Amino acid sequence: MKNVLIIGGNGFIGQNLSKTLLKYQYNVFSFDIQLPKLKLEKVNYLVGDFFDDEILEKSLSGIDLVVHSLSTVNPGNSNTRFLQGYSRDFVQSVKLFDMCIKKNIRVIFLSSGGTVYGVQKKQPIVEDTIAAPINHYGSVKLCIETVMKTFNTQLHTKMIIARISNPYGPGQDYNKGVGFIDAALKKCLNGETIEIWGDGEVVRDYIYIDDVCEMICSLINYNGEQEVFNLSSNEGVSLNRVIDELKQLNLQPHVIYKDSRSVDVSKVVLDNSRIEKIHPMKIRSFKEGISEYYNYLKGSKNQ
Ligand SMILES: NC(=O)c1ccc[n+]([C@@H]2O[C@H](COP(=O)([O-])OP(=O)(O)OC[C@H]3O[C@@H](n4cnc5c(N)ncnc54)[C@H](O)[C@@H]3O)[C@@H](O)[C@H]2O)c1
Repeated sequence: MKNVLIIGGNGFIGQNLSKTLLKYQYNVFSFDIQLPKLKLEKVNYLVGDFFDDEILEKSLSGIDLVVHSLSTVNPGNSNTRFLQGYSRDFVQSVKLFDMCIKKNIRVIFLSSGGTVYGVQKKQPIVEDTIAAPINHYGSVKLCIETVMKTFNTQLHTKMIIARISNPYGPGQDYNKGVGFIDAALKKCLNGETIEIWGDGEVVRDYIYIDDVCEMICSLINYNGEQEVFNLSSNEGVSLNRVIDELKQLNLQPHVIYKDSRSVDVSKVVLDNSRIEKIHPMKIRSFKEGISEYYNYLKGSKNQ
């Protein structure tokens, strides 16, 4: 039974991952600056600041695997907060990797497939594509990835980079700056207007959070040659298609279209054949996933 520590474990991905790890009988440790609203019975909660070296190092005691699931910037704010991304998130991530190497701890880093690749003609995008982020969030992720690869080459470590596309599902909060599906569903349920930047033809690769967590778990014991994995659905869905699906769910979305943002790439669909090869699984279609999340939200609203 392995001890898995999730850094940023009480966030959207961290909390869902905790549940999946428990399902697979791992001992789960969650390191976060704050406790979650709802604690999971079997999770060991460690409260601390990622940027406090001493506390971070202490949290690694007895751990076999670290999932790095923390970023203090997002795609929307990273172009103004870029120094925070490089001087804090990047530097502290390198320190974390160094600590993990010294303690012989395996690492999985949650990177962003939605932003590291940037504008790419060839879709779906494969992992070996030359990344070209168009915002600093993606660029910080790429810097962190590069250091991991250098450690892997130099020291023969097996650190893994998981490039997640656009996850959605229970526990997400679009107010943090990402999550169009979350925003669209919640705004519909609350009778609020959905804002779309651009003409709605921007295409994303949405993936249900449980499928992402399942994929992350499949990487825990991976021992092959690959360092980078796209964790994605491989299904391109436009914002306008999202709105159509809301109507299929008998919702009545009210939408306004605004000028497009420079931080958004027009199309990102990630090829997932690499992860599929090591862990074949049934990935929810977009139709199935949005309906499942809608039913979840409806259920929690009625409680
Ligand atoms: N959500 C997405 O769409 C998405 C997509 C691809 C990659 N990612 C990456 O996955 C990771 C997790 O994303 P998320 O959506 O779960 O984020 P989140 O913001 O929901 O969770 C991050 C957690 O980190 C904690 N945290 C922040 N600063 C901290 C500090 N100084 N010390 C300790 N804890 C701190 C927060 O309290 C929060 O619980 C991030 O690295 C993100 O870049 C997210």
